[in-house]
Amino acid sequence: MNSSVQAYRGGVLHFNDDPAFAGDAYHWHEDGLLVVDDGRVIAAGDHAQLAASLPEGATVHDLRGKLIMPGFIDTHIHYPQSDMIASPAPGLLPWLETYTFPTERKFQDPEHAGDVARFFLDELARNGTTTAMVYCTVHPESVDAFFTESSARNVRMVAGKVMMDRNCPAYLADTAESGARDSEALIQRWHNKGRQAYALTPRFAPTSTEAQLALTGELARAYPDTYIQSHVAENTDEIAWVKTLYPEARSYLDVYDRYGLLRKRAMYGHCIYLDDADRARMVGTGAAAALCPTSNLFLGSGLFDFAAADGARMSLSLATDVGGGTSFSMLRVMNEIYKVARMGGTYLPALRMFYLATLGGARSMGLEGTVGSFMPGNEADFVVLDPQCTPLLARRTNHFEALEELLFALALLGDDRTVFATYSAGKLLHSRSESRA
Ligand code: GUN
Ligand code: ZN
Repeated sequence: MNSSVQAYRGGVLHFNDDPAFAGDAYHWHEDGLLVVDDGRVIAAGDHAQLAASLPEGATVHDLRGKLIMPGFIDTHIHYPQSDMIASPAPGLLPWLETYTFPTERKFQDPEHAGDVARFFLDELARNGTTTAMVYCTVHPESVDAFFTESSARNVRMVAGKVMMDRNCPAYLADTAESGARDSEALIQRWHNKGRQAYALTPRFAPTSTEAQLALTGELARAYPDTYIQSHVAENTDEIAWVKTLYPEARSYLDVYDRYGLLRKRAMYGHCIYLDDADRARMVGTGAAAALCPTSNLFLGSGLFDFAAADGARMSLSLATDVGGGTSFSMLRVMNEIYKVARMGGTYLPALRMFYLATLGGARSMGLEGTVGSFMPGNEADFVVLDPQCTPLLARRTNHFEALEELLFALALLGDDRTVFATYSAGKLLHSRSESRA
C-alpha cells in the first residue's frame, strides 16, 4: 500500500531555543529521521524510535552521512541587486549612487524583473535558504514579478516595494502619497496570499521625507500583521547625514520610532552604531536586527557589537544583504559573523550560528511555530548539508569529537557546494546532484 509519508534518514538537527541563553536548546539525532507528510513535519527524532511507527508504504530517503536541518532564513536581501553583487566602491553612499540606483532602474520593465526574480529564487534554493525578507525596487511591477515567482514555487517569502521620495535619482523616486497608495494596493494583492507576506519598505531615513515616514507609520498601524523593513546605523557618513535631515531625533533609530515604525515584525538591517537606549527600544518594541557581516566588511561599514546586543537581549538574525553582501550563502554569513564577533571579544559557537540562521530568524520574524524548527505541524522547509562536498571539508570532517566541531567546520568552510538538497513545504526545490553545480 502506498503512503504519502516521506521520511529522511540522516543526522537531524534543530533548535527549540537560543543556545546562548538556554540549556537543552537543541535536538541532535545522529542517526535521525525527519518524517514529513502533506508539506508539514510529522515528527523528528531517532531513526531507531521512529522507523517502526512509519505507515506502511512510506518512502525512506537514505541520507546517512549528511545533516538535515531547517532551511536557512535570510532576513535582509535585495533581489534587484543580484546582477550587481561584487561591484567596487569606497563605501555605502558612493556604492548606492554608482551601481545600485542605475541597476534598480531596470526594474520598471516587468520582464526584466521576472527574469531576475527567477534567478534570485533559484540562487536562494541553491544556498539552502527557504525564507527571506526581500527588498524589491520602487516599482510596484518589481513586487508583482517577485511574488508571482515565489508563489508559483510555494516558498515562504516576505517582500515589499521600496519607498523613497527624496535624495535619489528622479527616475527612482515615488512620492509620499504614491508610495503609500502603491504599497497598500500591493498589501491587498499579496499579503498572506498563500505563503507570501508583505513588508512596508522605506529604504532608509535619508531617502524618505517626514511625510513619507508618517504615511508608512499609518499603514503599519492599519495593517498590523504586515512586516516593516529598513536600514539603520550602517555607516558613519550615513549617520551624520541623518542627523542633518532629522535634527530633532535623538538617534538614527529614533527617527523610525517617532513614526511608529518599531514594532513586532519590524526588521532593521545592520544596527552597527546603536547605543544602549536604542537597543532597549528595539527590545521594548519587539523590533529585530538583521546582521549583515559580509556586506559590512565589504563596504567597510563597521563591526556589529555582539556583546552589547546580547547584553540587551536584542532579537537577532543573520542576513546576506546581497548585493552589498558578497554571497548568497548563509554559511558564508556565519563565517564572517564569527570573525566580527571575535573582533569584539565575543566567542560565537557554531551551534549559536546555526540557531540564528534557522529558529533565530523565524523568531525575529514572528514565525516560530511556522518554520525554523522541526516542531510537529511546522511547514517542512529543510536543507540537507553534505560534509563531504569538497576535498577539504571531507578531510576536515573525517574526524571530529563533538557536534560543535562538525558544525564549526561547515560554517567556516561551507558554501553553496555544501547544500546537497533544499526542500520547501516537503517538495524538492534544489538538488545538487541534479544541477550543474
Ligand atoms: N542603505 C540604503 N539602501 C541600501 C542598500 O541597498 N544596501 C545597503 N547595504 N544599505 C543601504
Ligand atoms: Zn540592505
